[in-house]
Amino acid sequence: MRNTKFSAQEDLLLKIAIGSDHAGFELKEEIAKMLREEGVEFKDFGTFSAEPVDYPDIAAEVSLAIISGNFDLGILVCGTGVGMSIAANKFKGIRAAHCSDEYTARLSRKHNNANVLTLGGRTIGQELAKSVVKAWLGARFEDNSRHAKRVDKIRLLEEKQN
Ligand code: RB5
Repeated sequence: MRNTKFSAQEDLLLKIAIGSDHAGFELKEEIAKMLREEGVEFKDFGTFSAEPVDYPDIAAEVSLAIISGNFDLGILVCGTGVGMSIAANKFKGIRAAHCSDEYTARLSRKHNNANVLTLGGRTIGQELAKSVVKAWLGARFEDNSRHAKRVDKIRLLEEKQN
């Protein structure tokens, strides 16, 4: 299915992996509903209820799904968005950005090539969160720019750790 509504480039096909812990469950459900309505292709990695679960487990599932190449981008929701971003950023190749406003969300794609967006289910209103998701999905990395060189330096930092 083509995600033309949010696409800066009409021909781009994006597959999104989403997930949350219990604290992000409600917002994650809202985001899933919005993506479904907009015809965006996505897979929900849970959680599927308000029963407590550990956010690193969900962050790992979504991060590995992206690293595998089966998904392009991920959206993770926990209470604050912080735990999800810390956990997701432990994975090589993941660039998770915790955003609470549209400008940061847009720039995290354009300049940082963020491939995971994290949100705080207990800290951001649902309507703002949905606008942030739309802004994030609608922006594209400015490849072949000064930013590409910087993002590549992040990759080199990862290489040095191993
Ligand atoms: C869960 O209570 C809460 O700690 C978690 O959702 C998240 O906010 C962690 O960063």
